[in-house]
Amino acid sequence: ATFDLVVRNARVATASDTFDADIGITGGRIVQLGQGLPAGRREIDAAGAFVTPGGVDAHCHLDQPMEAPVRMADDFDTGTRAAACGGTTTVIPFAAQQKGQSLRAAVRDYHERAEGRAHVDHAFHLIVSDPTEDVLKNELPQLIAEGYTSFKIYMTYDDLKLNDGQILDVLSVAREHDAMAMIHAENADCIEWLTRRLEASGRTAPRFHAHARPMLVEREATHRAIALSELVDVPIMIVHVSGKEAVEQIRWARSHGLHVFAETCPQYLFLTAEDLGIDDSYGGARCVCSPPPRNKDNQRVIWNGLADGLFTIFSSDHAPFRYDAPEGKKPGGEEVAFRHIPNGIPGIETRLPLLFSHGVLDGRITINRFVELTSTNPAKAYGLHPRKGTIAIGADADLVVWNATPRQVRNADLHHAVDYTPYEGIEVKAWPALTLARGEVVWDGHTFHPRAGRGQFLRRGRPSLLPAPQPRGTK
Ligand code: URP
Ligand code: ZN
Ligand code: ZN
Ligand code: ZN
Repeated sequence: ATFDLVVRNARVATASDTFDADIGITGGRIVQLGQGLPAGRREIDAAGAFVTPGGVDAHCHLDQPMEAPVRMADDFDTGTRAAACGGTTTVIPFAAQQKGQSLRAAVRDYHERAEGRAHVDHAFHLIVSDPTEDVLKNELPQLIAEGYTSFKIYMTYDDLKLNDGQILDVLSVAREHDAMAMIHAENADCIEWLTRRLEASGRTAPRFHAHARPMLVEREATHRAIALSELVDVPIMIVHVSGKEAVEQIRWARSHGLHVFAETCPQYLFLTAEDLGIDDSYGGARCVCSPPPRNKDNQRVIWNGLADGLFTIFSSDHAPFRYDAPEGKKPGGEEVAFRHIPNGIPGIETRLPLLFSHGVLDGRITINRFVELTSTNPAKAYGLHPRKGTIAIGADADLVVWNATPRQVRNADLHHAVDYTPYEGIEVKAWPALTLARGEVVWDGHTFHPRAGRGQFLRRGRPSLLPAPQPRGTK
């Protein structure tokens, strides 16, 4: 039997091993790994380059409905295009329930947004903002059974936040039906109180966004999220962890045997609060995201957590808003008070090259840990492993071949629909020379190969970061 494609002379890296092999691909799947494989109908010579599993970006926002006039810059076309060009072959954005809306309606709407547009495979997390009795008893369990096996809950943002009792209710559903709950941990009342005080004294420039959300508000909410999950006895994923005090809470939870997982993102390695502005100029609105970037000491704490196993996942939290636009960071065309600046920054395409360069090639993490953080663990946490997240026989042929060509990040070279990157000018030492999505070349190092609609919706299984629970009724 001939292969459809052989990727030859690969230096394959998985979460556990590094080895030299040819990769035989047929029907979009890896069917053989070994040396001296027979010829394929098509051949790609990796010439000893590192080949890693395609990235799984388990936290990104694409075409998520916003309150007018604000609108996300990337939809499933431009968002998955940028993902592919940065080595990411699976994305999990969010189907967000609006208050008063059924979860089912939110999911249906989101499928319409993805339909026929995606260039890479995708699944949806749910966002539960209105946990009515029907949501808790019927909708959420049914959607989990249909393969939407994770959801995010918010402790802040007026239109999304849940109180502690609601969080306990929703976490109980996660426990009963084996779903993964992601938690945005910031104390909403502290943020509101601080914001009002800042506004009352005229301090409304973008840089005050960081003053309204000091680490304390993240630390307190992180601790509370941990306590709530302990009470329910269910694993949780604390998302976008920004620095030391939240990390300390998570280390404490781990040392007490609690199943608390944690995610961090590029902005907490490469940006600081100074990127929100050192004076009252508006340009810092580009880097307004929550939690806000901290300082260099906190960057070091995050790097250490990536290296020593504290963090489970490294995601982009891509939340794309144009800077110089009335639907973006200048809502209605105005330079607004920080409270009204849409939160979030783009990063879906730069996530892997930044971590590969400054993590792997700078010697801070191994390439195997890189694969674990960016692909294997997100696939396991959200029920996509082993189809996604590894290079193994039977897995989808989602692969990245890495070059080692130094360059600077330039927004002009990126493929999202945002008019800036927060990482402009940062040096990288490597970039995907090739991205294969189920055996198809989607990015060749220079050119994107579009086929809107080639990306499939992925119905997911149960999270597999932990061993399967005992079947009920045994023991
Ligand atoms: O500021 C951020 N992170 N915006 C995206 C939404 C979220 O909370 O992750
Ligand atoms: Zn969040
Ligand atoms: Zn997010
Ligand atoms: Zn570096």
